[in-house]
Amino acid sequence: MQSFEEIDFFSDNSLTYDPQPYFEYLRSKGPAVRLPQRGVVAVTGYDEGLAIFRNEERYSSYNAAYGPNPLPFEPVGDDITDQIASNRGDRSTFNMISTYDPPDHTRLRLLLKGLLTPKRLLENEQFMWRLADGMIDEFIGQGSMEFISGFAGPFATLVVADLLGVPEEDHKKFRRIFTEAGMRLGSIDGVPPQESNPLTRITGHFYEYIEDRRKNPRKDVMTDLALTKYPDGSLASVDDIVNLSAFLFAAGQETTVRVMAAMLMFLCEDPALQARLRAERSLIPNFIEETLRMEGTVKTGFRLNKVQTEIGGVELDPGTPLMLVISAMNRDPAKFESPHEFRPDRSNAREHLAFGRGIHACIGAPLARAELKVTLERMFDQTSDIRFDEAKHGPAGSRKLDYVPSYQARGLAELHIVHDAKA
Ligand code: HEM
Repeated sequence: MQSFEEIDFFSDNSLTYDPQPYFEYLRSKGPAVRLPQRGVVAVTGYDEGLAIFRNEERYSSYNAAYGPNPLPFEPVGDDITDQIASNRGDRSTFNMISTYDPPDHTRLRLLLKGLLTPKRLLENEQFMWRLADGMIDEFIGQGSMEFISGFAGPFATLVVADLLGVPEEDHKKFRRIFTEAGMRLGSIDGVPPQESNPLTRITGHFYEYIEDRRKNPRKDVMTDLALTKYPDGSLASVDDIVNLSAFLFAAGQETTVRVMAAMLMFLCEDPALQARLRAERSLIPNFIEETLRMEGTVKTGFRLNKVQTEIGGVELDPGTPLMLVISAMNRDPAKFESPHEFRPDRSNAREHLAFGRGIHACIGAPLARAELKVTLERMFDQTSDIRFDEAKHGPAGSRKLDYVPSYQARGLAELHIVHDAKA
């Protein structure tokens, strides 16, 4: 195996299973460190990361989806704000809400807030309880299952479908599109072909829905979506609505699914903790926060430095790509005591950065938290015990767990469980 000094974090599969020793090596060099590869500066310090998340004036989100790849322009001068604005082209990589800076970001964020009203979120949560019951009924009699494909994936897809008012008769179609797609975020196995991108297919459906509802308004959520207005009262463009809707599917899939699996993994690993949580359900919310801190799905995020500055003792020229190592910030010993220990009672667990911070902070966080809670509550309601399927993952002490090969996403590729249905 290569030394940490030589290893390329962006393509080396050996860091997929457990990247934490590598992140500790980076931390030993300081809260920010320039990597030998691709001119990227990696930030592992909690305070330094928070400062970057909160400073959109200095740090652009241009490369949030583009990662460490070489910029499509040569940075010139002491402020590259204009160069960033004129180098977006029409590639989706540089044209989604998570990559925009104000004022474009502000316009879309307000639009999104209008879609995710407290009323809509409440109705959506009621749907989640029904959906979880129905889906658990599908597998409860089998005694064992692969949790990600059998529950978490379709559950997350259908929750967003309901949120956006996709007609129930199309839910099966959406479930199929995402089941066929697999992992994409920051894949170190190369970028899957565009035609297999579920978002391309989802976008097509949303154009049809929105145009139909604009011509034939009905009393349904999709009509509300189609008639969404900007804060100044004008009708939102169809492109903005469709792109945001598709983006919600992308942002709310992989992320939630892998944390759901992590939750169950911790409970399978620690039967005493599982018994305690079953008996004291009020502990569930903090258990979820600790799971997000330890195994949040967004391992790394990216920013581009617009002007000359310094972070953690490292000088940054304009155009320096910054990798915010969220998984390392969440284990910064200056912030979290014994950071590598899973402590469901940790008093500051909720201060993790798993949902980011600042203007781009995850707008789906309340939805994700509700999904995680509903899933766990209903799994506890319907089962008396959940364990690893040792035929697939091996016995305690020599577990075999595979993680998705990605420099951006963290999460189990599969989780096979055995469960006892309640009598
Ligand atoms: C456990 C699950 C989730 C995690 C760990 C997560 C994590 C994140 C993180 C770290 C960011 C900030 C990225 C940055 O600053 O560059 C983000 C942004 C975002 N997330 Fe989530 N997310 C989750 C679930 C969801 C869900 C369920 C939705 C909606 C259905 C969602 C929608 C979004 C959107 C739209 C953004 C972009 C916000 C903006 O740029 O203004 N996320 N998420």
